Amino acid sequence: MQGAHGMSKITVYPDNESLVAGAADLIIESAARAIAERGRFTIALSGGETPRPVYTLLAAAGCLERIDWSRVFIYFGDERCVPPYDPRSNYLMARTVLLDKAPLPRDNIYRIHGEEAPGKAAADYEDVLRRVFGGGAATGGPPLEGFDLILLGMGDNGHTASLFPGLAAVTEKERWVMAAYVEVAGMWRITMTPVVINAARQVVFLVSGAGKAEILKQVHEGPYQPVVLPAQAVRPASGEVRWLVDRPAAAQLRMES
Ligand code: 6PG
Repeated sequence: MQGAHGMSKITVYPDNESLVAGAADLIIESAARAIAERGRFTIALSGGETPRPVYTLLAAAGCLERIDWSRVFIYFGDERCVPPYDPRSNYLMARTVLLDKAPLPRDNIYRIHGEEAPGKAAADYEDVLRRVFGGGAATGGPPLEGFDLILLGMGDNGHTASLFPGLAAVTEKERWVMAAYVEVAGMWRITMTPVVINAARQVVFLVSGAGKAEILKQVHEGPYQPVVLPAQAVRPASGEVRWLVDRPAAAQLRMES
């Protein structure tokens, strides 16, 4: 569908199970394409509950062997400011269900150090990304090369990654990674900014459940107000945005009949 705010393709799956299978297939295909074309696949994972079954499926027989893990490089779009063994850690979730099960060189995993002081963790992660993707402070701009795939979720308040409504990170034009105290979450978060997200070749949102129906409609059909609805700030310069949603989440979209 041609979204009100630029090209965004929405795929509606009948239920969560088919959404999960569709997301796993998309990741496998995206990895194969990137590896065939450029010899590596760079992906930023999201936290939250929606991707958990997708990561679990990727680690299952039938999927696991469809990816050349030695050429996969794992990053995180955001992180909670907690140690890597804390149950709230996005890294721990991904590690438990997928990363520990995949034949992935440990050196290919770049986690955000949520146990460090937030400002330092953000600056360090930006350095890591600059080394891999080029650009940034030295040239004062976005990454020279974007991620192959950035996975995102969306909260029922329109936040994505840890770009929460009202945060300066939502409208940031230079920094790639920022820290902020998030009042509604009651904790510090580290997040990629739109500077990095919008340089990606492909950005994929996974949105599931009736609880997201109202906000999904607002983000796609309401006025453009990214500070209020940070998911609207995701508009890759030349990359593609896909929304994989299930029918309950899509229930209020105009396209649904
Ligand atoms: C996180 C996320 C966050 C998440 C949304 C949706 O660290 O929590 O990266 O942006 O994707 O909150 O979460 P659910 O998938 O649990 O609804």
